[in-house]
Amino acid sequence: MAAEISDAHADGVVLVAVLKGSVPFLADMVRALTIVPIVDFMAISTYAPESGRVRIVKDLDIDVSDRDVVLVEDIVDTGLTLHYLLAELGRRGPRSIQACTLLDRTSRRIIPTPVDYRGFEIGDEFVLGYGLDFAQRYRNLDRVVVADLAVLRDDPDAYVGALYGS
Ligand code: IMP
Repeated sequence: MAAEISDAHADGVVLVAVLKGSVPFLADMVRALTIVPIVDFMAISTYAPESGRVRIVKDLDIDVSDRDVVLVEDIVDTGLTLHYLLAELGRRGPRSIQACTLLDRTSRRIIPTPVDYRGFEIGDEFVLGYGLDFAQRYRNLDRVVVADLAVLRDDPDAYVGALYGS
């Protein structure tokens, strides 16, 4: 993906990482690029899960008008987050806007959303690690693991012993 992005944006790119889950992926991504990107961050919060409406919690520091922008996501699931961000950034007049995600769960898509750079397609399984969390836990695992959502809902720390044990 880094090679593809570097090839497509030889004259520069703004990477917009979506906090917090994409941070480990972004860190590896930028170090694999052969171009010099500008990196900025956005954070959004779901305030009405049923409607899928979200609000911006942390906005960009830079102006993306006339810039080539690539959004960097950890996982695209229903597509609501990506759809919102593409629309929001699109209103700011970028020269181009693309989306990059480590994981893509297309089976759960509610809104068709274009994904230009995709790491892995996954199924319905819930995943943790490499930025992905449950109740803010497990983000610092150096790998992605499959977890049982029912077990986590019962006890968010259920996997701590097994995953962090020596
Ligand atoms: P979407 O708006 O439904 O596409 O959801 C995207 C967000 O949901 C991601 O950025 C994650 O924060 C979260 N998410 C979706 N699936 C998982 C998962 O399997 N593990 C952890 N977080 C997830």
